[in-house]
Amino acid sequence: PREKGWRTPYIYLFQGFWCQPAEIQAISTFQNHFQAKDSDVFVATVPKSGTTWLKALTFAIMNRQNHFISSKNHPLLSFNPHDLVPFIEYTVYGKHDKVPDLSKFHEPRLFGTHIPFGSLPNSIRKSNCKIVYICRNPFDTFISSWMFVNKIKPPSMPTLKLEEAFEMYCNGSVGFGPVWNHMLGYWNESKERPKNVLFLKYEDLKEDVIFHLKKLAKFLDCPFTLKEESEGVIENIIKLCSFEKMKELKVNKTGTFGRNFENKFLFRKGEIGDWTNYLSSSMVEKLSKIFEEKLYGSGLKFRVK
Ligand code: A3P
Repeated sequence: PREKGWRTPYIYLFQGFWCQPAEIQAISTFQNHFQAKDSDVFVATVPKSGTTWLKALTFAIMNRQNHFISSKNHPLLSFNPHDLVPFIEYTVYGKHDKVPDLSKFHEPRLFGTHIPFGSLPNSIRKSNCKIVYICRNPFDTFISSWMFVNKIKPPSMPTLKLEEAFEMYCNGSVGFGPVWNHMLGYWNESKERPKNVLFLKYEDLKEDVIFHLKKLAKFLDCPFTLKEESEGVIENIIKLCSFEKMKELKVNKTGTFGRNFENKFLFRKGEIGDWTNYLSSSMVEKLSKIFEEKLYGSGLKFRVK
């Protein structure tokens, strides 16, 4: 089955989720060839849920021995987080049917992905590698996605109207959707294998980033030492990866993500509740009902403002 896409004329149902033809090719190659290592780390997300932020935080935590956080040469000051933590489906396996040479990746390898849990290769699911997942309340995720797509869509694609995009989001037919299934896949796995899958929410990180940064470091088996805490390493990572700091960096103001889009579009408002400026009360009611129904019994809930 195929449906109208946001960024490409059509998206296709593949293994229970919707994606673009190029993504299907990349994901298939990944599924057929990737061999996970126990030391691998994946940052997995629903698009527009805080991927850029979580990639930056995870990179900073994992590489803090080699890259002193307050150094003027820190890679996060001159590279976009998506360059430092490459996407499996766009960058690493993005050459379609070509199998990439992964020997240039130093261990522990750090990758990003939007692939739903159920479609990760068996070797990941069977290995001891770690997956950090972040999602965000569906209202903000929807508005963030809709705005982003209209900024980066090819000129050949018409402007996407809010109402039309909303219907597609509610039907589940958006990239890597249905979004509720994406969340539930990782949510359930995080309950089954808490040592391997850490489930985070954008709103929680915003509310208490120190607490969640410590949790993330512990999960990654590199907890902050008392010495690091007293030296302000945690605060420095938070500052380095903050929306305000990242948005103002030259690389993020003028750089591009491959040939796909300008990095500046990755940093819009970075707030909780911007949806209140766009969604009508009937839209809010409809989307709330869908998520209530789909997440029923799972224990997964969101703060929306
Ligand atoms: P808004 O469009 O609501 O502003 P992703 O990184 O998954 O594409 O998600 C993009 C959303 O995260 C955007 O939300 C963007 O502004 C926000 N964002 C980007 N960098 C951030 C950061 N360092 N801290 C908090 N939010 C960030």
